[in-house]
Amino acid sequence: MSVPLTLFASDNYAGAHPAVLEAVAAANVGWARAYGDDEWTARLRERLREIFGDVEAFPVFNGTGGNVTALSAVLRPYEAVICPETAHINVDECGAPERMAGAKLVDVPTPDGKLTPELVRSRLTGFGDQHHVQARVVSISQSTELGTVYAPAELLALADVTHEAGLLLQMDGARLVNAAEALGVKLRELTTDCGVDVLTLGGTKCGLLGAEAVVFLRPNLAAEYLYARKQGTQLASKMRFISAQLLRLFEGGLWRETAGHANAMARRLGDAVAATPGVTLAYPVQANAVFAALPARAIEQLHERYHFYVWDEDAGVVRLMCSWQTTPQDVDDLVSALRAATG
Ligand SMILES: Cc1ncc(COP(=O)(O)O)c(C=O)c1O
Repeated sequence: MSVPLTLFASDNYAGAHPAVLEAVAAANVGWARAYGDDEWTARLRERLREIFGDVEAFPVFNGTGGNVTALSAVLRPYEAVICPETAHINVDECGAPERMAGAKLVDVPTPDGKLTPELVRSRLTGFGDQHHVQARVVSISQSTELGTVYAPAELLALADVTHEAGLLLQMDGARLVNAAEALGVKLRELTTDCGVDVLTLGGTKCGLLGAEAVVFLRPNLAAEYLYARKQGTQLASKMRFISAQLLRLFEGGLWRETAGHANAMARRLGDAVAATPGVTLAYPVQANAVFAALPARAIEQLHERYHFYVWDEDAGVVRLMCSWQTTPQDVDDLVSALRAATG
């Protein structure tokens, strides 16, 4: 039996974009100051200011580290984070926010991975009561873990309820670029302009070798972050190579190209899935993820050829991710296999 193909398992399974590897090689010239005192990191900070406004930005190694150190910089030990039940910080970070940021996560069930003002309000309780944890942060993912996308109006409404209660809005933007590309808006239209306070800006999923950044959209919140990043083991000594990757993605239009392609492949797959008898879309396809519900027998058969994750065993929902590297042919081949398995 042949080894199952891994290309729809995750956008993390994709390689690094050749242009990014070239940028890393170009940064490999002689000596450079360590720990972020280099010219690439300075240029990246400038570039992120052009994109997001008056921000303080800090490159980090990965998304979990970005989320955890960002949260630990703004939370006191008795404070809590309100997040969707499906949030990466809640289910996929091995308890790192609890252990390393000392945060209690108040997780909220949602129909589609998105918090709403009503859902947030339902958890705004116990303020001033010494027996209760004090909510300090509302955390959302854009796009969400279920492949859905918050529109600017939804973000504005969330920021309003968050700020009215004296809380901060943190965005896990591991796939912010996919959301921005899907909506055809600028990155600041989903962040700065909507009142997001702290952003974990993703890069790895859309073509980098491994680089993300914590961006404080309210720069005064960054005052303690240098210490939180180091203590959280996210301070890169040879930071030029992390910054060079992010610069390559955000200096020109590479992020639009890679995210736009991944989204287009997901739309192609989503349309075909929706037109396949016996298969339904579990969530609308709004970024680069397709969630499909299909019979257990069909999942088993497909697994012989493709490795992908079953998201909900009971409901028979599987996750199929597209990336900058997915080709139309890859999608069409998967659709043929899907139709053979469900036919
Ligand atoms: C929504 C979300 N946030 C953050 C991350 C970053 O995780 P990592 O620590 O693997 O870079 C991921 C990766 O799968 C993710 O899906």
